[in-house]
Amino acid sequence: MKTFFIYTMGCQMNVYDSDSMAQELVKKGLKPVEAPEHADIILVNTCTVREKPAQKAFSSLGRMSEIKKRRKAPVILGVTGCLAQEKPEELKRRFPSLDLIAGPREVGRISALLDRLEAGGGCVVATDPGGPPPPAPVDGSYFQGRSAGYVSIMEGCNNFCTYCIVPYVRGRELSRSPSDILQEVRNLTEAGLRDVTLLGQNVNSYRWIEPGHTLDFPDLLRAVSTVPGLCRLRFTTSHPKDLSDALIACFGSLEVLAPHIHLPFQAGSNRILRRMARGYSREHYLSRIEALRSARPDIAMTSDVMVGFPGETDEDFSRTLDLVERVRFDGLFSFKYSDRNGTPATRMQNKLSEDVKSRRLAELQTLQKEITRSINQSLAGLEFEVLVEGRGKRPGQYSGRTGTNKIVNFAGHGLEPGDLVRVLIRRGYLNSLLGDLA
Ligand code: SAH
Ligand code: SF4
Ligand code: F3S
Repeated sequence: MKTFFIYTMGCQMNVYDSDSMAQELVKKGLKPVEAPEHADIILVNTCTVREKPAQKAFSSLGRMSEIKKRRKAPVILGVTGCLAQEKPEELKRRFPSLDLIAGPREVGRISALLDRLEAGGGCVVATDPGGPPPPAPVDGSYFQGRSAGYVSIMEGCNNFCTYCIVPYVRGRELSRSPSDILQEVRNLTEAGLRDVTLLGQNVNSYRWIEPGHTLDFPDLLRAVSTVPGLCRLRFTTSHPKDLSDALIACFGSLEVLAPHIHLPFQAGSNRILRRMARGYSREHYLSRIEALRSARPDIAMTSDVMVGFPGETDEDFSRTLDLVERVRFDGLFSFKYSDRNGTPATRMQNKLSEDVKSRRLAELQTLQKEITRSINQSLAGLEFEVLVEGRGKRPGQYSGRTGTNKIVNFAGHGLEPGDLVRVLIRRGYLNSLLGDLA
């Protein structure tokens, strides 16, 4: 039996795409293996949103090419995802042993692309930014044994924030049909999954138009919330400019909607937000946070932010620190700005040195760590419903998540992924909570 290995980098979208490819390959009769050294097909699913993941993709392709060279049996080496879409020629030149180069809109066709390769003719390159239509619903069997999963509701992005390469590599927005989405969620819950995250670069612009009827994102949430067996519904990512009152109201009215939102703010200074073309002000962002908290007082908030955007002054940066102190996010993903091919920000004046960017990032991260730790410590003595994910790191320990998406470790026995238990929190740390079954 032929075997395959997929190495995944980047966002949840890529995790979803890798799972979809894996499932296709399993359907084709291939077997997944844990190490590339044992695989007949090696796929590297790449990200290029910043310089760092792009470099990581290049170095892992170097490693995989070496593995291919050393193997006695023939190996198919492929690169998929956003870097493959951005730089097919460079990849081909630098890694002559590549057999397949496929962009993110091509993952649904992975099986057909491998057939094309088998038919001969050398390296297959598939980077149509329009791509084929979104793939049919995945069936749930591949996901058995998991507690949580993803369902893509739309592809691409139309926002063109001035720093971002995603619209160039993932193409224009294209919503998936509600019937396919509902079918896929049902397939996952029937396979035993209890927690589903709906995925899109800007889920708020989800729209499905049928004669006489338009379905928007809150409509979709209401429809998905009725799927039997679903305990927690999540979505990511939301764009602050499009976060509607109707969506915020869902947090008050839909019980399965988990009390957590990831709402990237990117910068705390209005001048920088304008240069980023984000389409909102810090005041608007803060008012959305307030509205979310009044709809759902226990809601956890996470966000993305970058430091060192071209022209960012000390004053601009202090507005970012100030926003972080005001909101008190549960968690924050923070990045140093890096130039991306073809984006308007790359051509802007007043780039900052690595040194300044590193110093600002360190200051921001120190502040956020204090906030996260103090929020988590304040949870000691409270009881939460925890969805069991599996065994914890210590013997006799299980690990799971709260509705607010915090990791909880606790002692127990006889539990399975997907079980719901009540846990009394004893201590809160930076990255997890420790508790006892209540
Ligand atoms: N669609 C999501 C984010 C997608 S990219 C949104 O609109 O927020 C994930 C994160 O990478 C972004 O939120 C941003 O913080 C970061 N990012 C994107 N381009 C970047 C760049 N050129 N340099 C540094 N960080 C970047
Ligand atoms: Fe990039 Fe902006 Fe689209 Fe997010 S909304 S993917 S940051 S262009
Ligand atoms: Fe990276 Fe592509 Fe996601 S660039 S962040 S894998 S959309």
